[in-house]
Amino acid sequence: MIIAPSLLAGDFGRFAHEAARADRSGAEWLHLDIMDGHFVPNVSFGPAVVAAVRPHFSRYCDVHLMCSKPEILLEPFVKAGADGLTVHVELGAQVTPLLWKIRSLGRRVGLAVNPPTNVNEAKPWLSQVDVLLIMTVNPGFGGQSFIHECVPKIQQAAAWRRELGLKYQIEVDGGITLETARECALAGADTFVSGTALFHQRNLGAAVRKMRQTVQAAHTDSLFETLNPAGTHAAR
Ligand code: DX5
Ligand code: ZN
Repeated sequence: MIIAPSLLAGDFGRFAHEAARADRSGAEWLHLDIMDGHFVPNVSFGPAVVAAVRPHFSRYCDVHLMCSKPEILLEPFVKAGADGLTVHVELGAQVTPLLWKIRSLGRRVGLAVNPPTNVNEAKPWLSQVDVLLIMTVNPGFGGQSFIHECVPKIQQAAAWRRELGLKYQIEVDGGITLETARECALAGADTFVSGTALFHQRNLGAAVRKMRQTVQAAHTDSLFETLNPAGTHAAR
Protein backbone atom coordinates (compact mmCIF):
# COMPACT_ATOMS: atom_id res chain seq x y z
CA MET A 1 0.00 0.00 0.00
CA ILE A 2 1.38 3.37 -1.02
CA ILE A 3 0.33 6.74 0.35
CA ALA A 4 1.08 9.69 -1.93
CA PRO A 5 0.42 13.15 -0.49
CA SER A 6 -0.35 15.63 -3.26
CA LEU A 7 1.76 18.78 -3.07
CA LEU A 8 -1.09 20.71 -4.72
CA ALA A 9 -2.65 20.95 -1.25
CA GLY A 10 0.59 22.24 0.28
CA ASP A 11 1.48 25.87 0.93
CA PHE A 12 2.52 27.25 -2.50
CA GLY A 13 4.79 29.78 -0.82
CA ARG A 14 6.76 27.06 0.96
CA PHE A 15 6.98 24.08 -1.37
CA ALA A 16 10.43 22.97 -0.20
CA HIS A 17 9.21 22.97 3.40
CA GLU A 18 6.07 21.04 2.41
CA ALA A 19 8.07 18.43 0.47
CA ALA A 20 10.33 18.00 3.50
CA ARG A 21 7.24 17.62 5.67
CA ALA A 22 6.00 14.88 3.31
CA ASP A 23 9.43 13.25 3.51
CA ARG A 24 9.37 13.20 7.31
CA SER A 25 5.81 11.84 7.28
CA GLY A 26 7.08 8.53 5.89
CA ALA A 27 4.83 8.70 2.83
CA GLU A 28 6.18 6.39 0.13
CA TRP A 29 5.45 8.78 -2.75
CA LEU A 30 5.09 12.51 -3.34
CA HIS A 31 2.42 13.27 -5.96
CA LEU A 32 3.01 16.27 -8.23
CA ASP A 33 0.05 17.62 -10.21
CA ILE A 34 1.00 19.36 -13.44
CA MET A 35 -1.81 21.40 -15.02
CA ASP A 36 -1.46 23.29 -18.30
CA GLY A 37 -4.59 25.49 -18.37
CA HIS A 38 -5.79 23.61 -21.48
CA PHE A 39 -6.33 19.95 -20.64
CA VAL A 40 -7.73 21.20 -17.33
CA PRO A 41 -9.02 24.67 -16.42
CA ASN A 42 -6.18 25.49 -14.04
CA VAL A 43 -2.40 26.00 -14.04
CA SER A 44 -0.16 24.59 -11.31
CA PHE A 45 3.63 24.45 -11.68
CA GLY A 46 6.31 23.23 -14.08
CA PRO A 47 9.62 21.37 -14.23
CA ALA A 48 11.66 24.18 -12.65
CA VAL A 49 9.51 24.02 -9.52
CA VAL A 50 9.72 20.21 -9.41
CA ALA A 51 13.52 20.42 -9.72
CA ALA A 52 13.60 22.87 -6.80
CA VAL A 53 11.40 20.64 -4.65
CA ARG A 54 13.04 17.33 -5.58
CA PRO A 55 16.01 17.44 -3.14
CA HIS A 56 13.57 17.77 -0.22
CA PHE A 57 11.79 14.44 -0.80
CA SER A 58 14.00 11.35 -0.68
CA ARG A 59 11.66 8.75 -2.18
CA TYR A 60 9.50 8.34 -5.30
CA CYS A 61 8.22 11.40 -7.16
CA ASP A 62 4.99 10.66 -9.01
CA VAL A 63 4.34 13.22 -11.75
CA HIS A 64 0.74 13.43 -12.97
CA LEU A 65 0.56 15.29 -16.28
CA MET A 66 -2.86 16.88 -16.83
CA CYS A 67 -1.62 18.38 -20.06
CA SER A 68 -2.68 18.38 -23.72
CA LYS A 69 0.88 18.10 -25.04
CA PRO A 70 2.81 15.98 -22.56
CA GLU A 71 5.33 15.02 -25.25
CA ILE A 72 7.08 18.39 -24.79
CA LEU A 73 7.24 17.90 -21.02
CA LEU A 74 8.48 14.33 -20.53
CA GLU A 75 12.20 15.03 -20.77
CA PRO A 76 12.07 18.23 -18.69
CA PHE A 77 10.26 16.39 -15.89
CA VAL A 78 12.68 13.46 -16.04
CA LYS A 79 15.55 15.94 -15.72
CA ALA A 80 13.68 17.56 -12.82
CA GLY A 81 13.68 14.22 -10.98
CA ALA A 82 10.42 12.41 -11.79
CA ASP A 83 10.47 8.68 -11.03
CA GLY A 84 7.14 7.99 -12.70
CA LEU A 85 5.14 9.91 -15.30
CA THR A 86 1.41 9.55 -15.83
CA VAL A 87 -0.42 10.72 -18.95
CA HIS A 88 -4.15 10.64 -19.69
CA VAL A 89 -5.95 8.06 -21.82
CA GLU A 90 -8.18 10.89 -23.13
CA LEU A 91 -5.25 11.91 -25.37
CA GLY A 92 -6.25 9.02 -27.68
CA ALA A 93 -3.81 8.44 -30.55
CA GLN A 94 -1.02 10.15 -28.63
CA VAL A 95 -1.06 7.55 -25.86
CA THR A 96 1.01 4.81 -27.52
CA PRO A 97 4.01 7.04 -28.40
CA LEU A 98 3.81 8.75 -25.00
CA LEU A 99 4.01 5.46 -23.10
CA TRP A 100 6.92 4.34 -25.27
CA LYS A 101 8.72 7.60 -24.67
CA ILE A 102 8.31 7.37 -20.88
CA ARG A 103 9.61 3.78 -20.97
CA SER A 104 12.54 4.79 -23.16
CA LEU A 105 13.44 7.51 -20.66
CA GLY A 106 13.72 4.76 -18.03
CA ARG A 107 10.82 5.98 -15.91
CA ARG A 108 7.75 4.17 -14.61
CA VAL A 109 4.74 4.44 -16.88
CA GLY A 110 1.31 5.65 -15.72
CA LEU A 111 -2.01 5.96 -17.52
CA ALA A 112 -4.90 7.97 -16.06
CA VAL A 113 -8.65 7.72 -16.68
CA ASN A 114 -10.97 10.66 -15.98
CA PRO A 115 -14.37 10.16 -14.33
CA PRO A 116 -16.46 10.54 -17.53
CA THR A 117 -14.16 8.19 -19.51
CA ASN A 118 -14.99 4.50 -19.77
CA VAL A 119 -12.25 2.41 -18.16
CA ASN A 120 -12.34 0.13 -21.23
CA GLU A 121 -10.46 2.93 -23.02
CA ALA A 122 -7.38 1.96 -20.99
CA LYS A 123 -7.60 -1.77 -21.68
CA PRO A 124 -5.36 -1.87 -24.80
CA TRP A 125 -2.42 -0.50 -22.78
CA LEU A 126 -2.72 -2.48 -19.56
CA SER A 127 0.25 -4.73 -20.30
CA GLN A 128 2.42 -1.65 -20.87
CA VAL A 129 1.71 0.31 -17.71
CA ASP A 130 3.13 0.21 -14.20
CA VAL A 131 0.34 2.34 -12.78
CA LEU A 132 -3.30 2.70 -13.77
CA LEU A 133 -4.65 5.92 -12.26
CA ILE A 134 -8.39 6.01 -11.73
CA MET A 135 -9.39 9.65 -11.22
CA THR A 136 -12.07 9.98 -8.55
CA VAL A 137 -12.71 13.70 -9.23
CA ASN A 138 -12.64 15.69 -12.45
CA PRO A 139 -9.04 16.88 -12.52
CA GLY A 140 -8.08 20.52 -12.17
CA PHE A 141 -8.54 21.38 -8.53
CA GLY A 142 -7.82 19.98 -5.10
CA GLY A 143 -10.44 19.79 -2.38
CA GLN A 144 -13.29 18.35 -4.46
CA SER A 145 -15.70 15.64 -3.35
CA PHE A 146 -15.03 12.00 -4.22
CA ILE A 147 -17.19 10.67 -7.08
CA HIS A 148 -18.52 7.33 -5.86
CA GLU A 149 -19.56 6.28 -9.37
CA CYS A 150 -15.84 5.73 -10.13
CA VAL A 151 -15.54 2.79 -7.69
CA PRO A 152 -16.73 0.11 -10.17
CA LYS A 153 -13.80 1.13 -12.41
CA ILE A 154 -11.41 0.20 -9.60
CA GLN A 155 -13.11 -3.17 -9.30
CA GLN A 156 -12.85 -3.66 -13.06
CA ALA A 157 -9.15 -2.70 -13.04
CA ALA A 158 -8.53 -5.19 -10.23
CA ALA A 159 -10.46 -7.94 -12.06
CA TRP A 160 -8.43 -7.37 -15.25
CA ARG A 161 -5.20 -7.44 -13.26
CA ARG A 162 -6.13 -10.88 -11.84
CA GLU A 163 -7.49 -12.30 -15.11
CA LEU A 164 -4.59 -11.09 -17.24
CA GLY A 165 -1.90 -11.90 -14.67
CA LEU A 166 -0.60 -8.32 -14.69
CA LYS A 167 1.03 -6.38 -11.88
CA TYR A 168 0.15 -2.72 -12.44
CA GLN A 169 -0.62 -0.61 -9.42
CA ILE A 170 -4.15 0.78 -9.11
CA GLU A 171 -3.87 4.39 -8.01
CA VAL A 172 -6.78 6.62 -6.99
CA ASP A 173 -6.71 10.42 -6.95
CA GLY A 174 -9.26 13.00 -5.88
CA GLY A 175 -11.33 13.42 -2.73
CA ILE A 176 -9.40 10.69 -0.92
CA THR A 177 -10.13 10.79 2.83
CA LEU A 178 -9.88 7.94 5.36
CA GLU A 179 -13.41 6.90 4.45
CA THR A 180 -13.07 7.02 0.67
CA ALA A 181 -9.57 5.48 0.82
CA ARG A 182 -11.15 2.50 2.60
CA GLU A 183 -13.84 2.26 -0.06
CA CYS A 184 -11.18 2.30 -2.81
CA ALA A 185 -8.99 -0.26 -1.00
CA LEU A 186 -11.95 -2.63 -0.67
CA ALA A 187 -12.47 -2.25 -4.43
CA GLY A 188 -8.82 -3.13 -5.16
CA ALA A 189 -6.81 0.12 -5.11
CA ASP A 190 -3.30 -0.01 -3.63
CA THR A 191 -1.93 3.51 -4.20
CA PHE A 192 -3.69 6.49 -2.64
CA VAL A 193 -3.15 10.11 -3.65
CA SER A 194 -4.48 12.53 -1.09
CA GLY A 195 -4.04 16.29 -0.96
CA THR A 196 -6.41 18.17 1.29
CA ALA A 197 -7.08 15.32 3.74
CA LEU A 198 -3.34 14.93 4.44
CA PHE A 199 -1.59 18.28 3.95
CA HIS A 200 -4.20 20.22 5.88
CA GLN A 201 -3.48 18.17 9.02
CA ARG A 202 -1.09 19.66 11.52
CA ASN A 203 0.59 16.26 12.00
CA LEU A 204 1.14 14.94 8.47
CA GLY A 205 3.04 11.87 9.73
CA ALA A 206 0.12 10.77 11.90
CA ALA A 207 -2.34 11.38 9.04
CA VAL A 208 -0.24 9.29 6.62
CA ARG A 209 0.07 6.45 9.15
CA LYS A 210 -3.65 6.49 9.84
CA MET A 211 -4.46 6.35 6.13
CA ARG A 212 -1.98 3.49 5.61
CA GLN A 213 -3.46 1.53 8.53
CA THR A 214 -6.98 2.13 7.20
CA VAL A 215 -6.23 0.84 3.71
CA GLN A 216 -4.19 -2.10 5.00
CA ALA A 217 -7.09 -3.14 7.22
CA ALA A 218 -9.50 -2.80 4.30
CA HIS A 219 -7.20 -4.92 2.15
CA THR A 220 -7.11 -7.63 4.84
CA ASP A 221 -10.91 -7.46 5.12
CA SER A 222 -11.33 -7.88 1.37
CA LEU A 223 -8.94 -10.88 1.32
CA PHE A 224 -10.89 -12.42 4.21
CA GLU A 225 -14.12 -11.82 2.28
CA THR A 226 -12.69 -13.61 -0.77
CA LEU A 227 -11.50 -16.61 1.24
CA ASN A 228 -14.59 -16.80 3.45
CA PRO A 229 -17.78 -16.16 1.51
CA ALA A 230 -20.63 -14.26 3.21
CA GLY A 231 -22.18 -15.94 6.19
CA THR A 232 -19.04 -17.22 7.88
CA HIS A 233 -18.18 -14.00 9.67
CA ALA A 234 -18.84 -15.59 13.06
CA ALA A 235 -15.48 -17.31 12.68
CA ARG A 236 -13.68 -13.98 13.07
C1 DX5 B 1 -6.86 16.78 -9.03
C2 DX5 B 1 -5.45 16.31 -8.76
C3 DX5 B 1 -5.28 15.69 -7.43
C4 DX5 B 1 -5.51 16.61 -6.27
C5 DX5 B 1 -6.15 15.80 -5.18
O1 DX5 B 1 -6.87 17.51 -10.20
O2 DX5 B 1 -5.05 15.37 -9.74
O3 DX5 B 1 -4.03 15.02 -7.30
O4 DX5 B 1 -4.33 17.17 -5.76
O5 DX5 B 1 -6.48 16.67 -4.16
P1 DX5 B 1 -7.56 16.30 -3.06
O6 DX5 B 1 -7.04 15.10 -2.30
O7 DX5 B 1 -7.64 17.54 -2.24
O8 DX5 B 1 -8.85 15.97 -3.79
ZN1 ZN C 1 -3.12 14.09 -9.37
